[in-house]
Amino acid sequence: MTIGIDKMGFFTSDYYLDMADLANARGEDPNKYLIGIGQKDQAVIPPTQDVVTMAANAAAKILSDDDKQAIDMVIFGTETGVDNSKSAAIYVQSLLGISNSARSFEIKQACYGGTAGVQMAFDHIAMHPESKVLVLAADIARYGIGTAGEVTQGGGAVAMLMSQDPQILALDNQSAFHSENIMDFWRPFYRRDAIVDGHYSTDIYIDFFNQTFKDYSAKYQRTLSDFSAVAFHLPFTKMGLKALRTVIDDGAHSQKLLKEFDHSKKYNALVGNLYTGSLYLSLLSLLANSKTLQPGDRIGLFSYGSGAQGEFYSGTIAPEIQPQSLAGQVEQVIANRTRLSVPEYEAMYANGLSNAGGDVTFDAADDDSRFVLLGRQADQLVYRDQQA
Ligand code: COA
Repeated sequence: MTIGIDKMGFFTSDYYLDMADLANARGEDPNKYLIGIGQKDQAVIPPTQDVVTMAANAAAKILSDDDKQAIDMVIFGTETGVDNSKSAAIYVQSLLGISNSARSFEIKQACYGGTAGVQMAFDHIAMHPESKVLVLAADIARYGIGTAGEVTQGGGAVAMLMSQDPQILALDNQSAFHSENIMDFWRPFYRRDAIVDGHYSTDIYIDFFNQTFKDYSAKYQRTLSDFSAVAFHLPFTKMGLKALRTVIDDGAHSQKLLKEFDHSKKYNALVGNLYTGSLYLSLLSLLANSKTLQPGDRIGLFSYGSGAQGEFYSGTIAPEIQPQSLAGQVEQVIANRTRLSVPEYEAMYANGLSNAGGDVTFDAADDDSRFVLLGRQADQLVYRDQQA
C-alpha cells in the first residue's frame, strides 16, 4: 500500500497587486522585487475572505460526496487562525458537509503547520488504511504597508486529500526534521501583521535546509542525484533558490534541478506568500509545469516554519498524475483576477476584521467565490455558502 496526496485544490483571492506598481510606489527599482526577491504579483485578500473561506473554497473543488463521507480527519495548518480557541477546521467541516464522524482540529507552527498535518495524516492512514484525511494549509501573509516585508505578502489556500493509493504523490515515509527556539518571525496576539527579521530568517532557513537534507541523506543513503526535483517552502521565490544553490554544482543534474526549480516557483511568483500553503503551491507548480518529470520520479520537499521547525521529506510521483488538470485548476483562478492600483490595495489592506472586536458587516456583492465571510455579529463569525 502507498500513502500520500490523492487530490490537491487551490484557491486565492480575486485581486492582485503588480510588484512593479508596488516598487514604483515605494521608490524601489522594480527589478529588486521582480528579480532580487523573485515576485511578480501578490494576492490581495478582501475582507470577505479569511482562512476558513479560502480553505473551504479550495477543498470544495476536489471533494466528491463519497470523499466527504470517507474523511475521518480534518487537519488545518495555519498561522492566521480565526479564533484563539475554536479551530478553523470545524468551520470548514461544517461548510463543506464533511461527516461529523471526523476528528477536526488546527495545528500551529508558523509555515510548518501544513507539513505537520501531512505527516500526521500519513501516520493515521498507515494505521487505518480505509481513512481519508483532509489537510488544509491556508494563510494571509501581512507585514505592513511600506515595510521591507511588504513585497513578500500574499495569501491563499491549498487543500490536500490524503489516502492510500494516492493519484498525485506517494510519500516515502522518510524524513528528517530539526527544531530550535529562534526569533526570526512571529506575530503577537495583538497584531494582524507579522514581526520579521527577514535576513536572519533567510539564514536560518538555509541552515535548516542544509541540516535536514544532510540528516535525511545520512539516514536513507541518498544524494542529490536521487531527486528529480526539490520543492521548497517559498515565502518569496528567491529564498528557495538561495537554499538550492548551497547544494548544487555546475554538473548536468544540478542544472536539471535549477530548471525544475523554475517550474516550482511559477505560481508562487504570481500569488505571493501563503505561509503554510507555500510549499504545497510550489509542489503544484512543479507538477503542473515540469516538462520532464515522470511517474516514479522522486521529489524532495523542504518545509520551514519560523520560530523554527524544518523538515526535509520525499515522495514519488504517482502513475495516475494528471499535470494538465492541476495546471488548469490553478491557472483558471489566476487568470480571473483583477489588478488593483496601489491605493486600492492599501484601502483593502486596511479593511477586514479588527482585533478590537465589535459587530461588522462586509458587502460580499463583488465576491463570487462559493464561500464568503459576511462579518462578525455578537462575537461570532458569519459565513455564507453562496451556492446554498
Ligand atoms: N535589481 C536586481 N536585484 C536587486 C536590485 C535591483 N535593482 N536591488 C536589490 N536587489 C536584490 C538584492 O541584491 C537582494 O538579493 P540577494 O538577497 O540575492 O542578495 C534582493 O534584491 C533583496 O534585497 P535586500 O536589500 O536584501 O531587500 P530588503 O532588505 O528590502 O529585504 C527581505 C528583503 C526578503 C528580507 C524582506 O522582504 C523580508 O523580510 N521579507 C519577509 C521574509 C519572511 O517572511 N521570512 C520569514 C518566513 S520564512
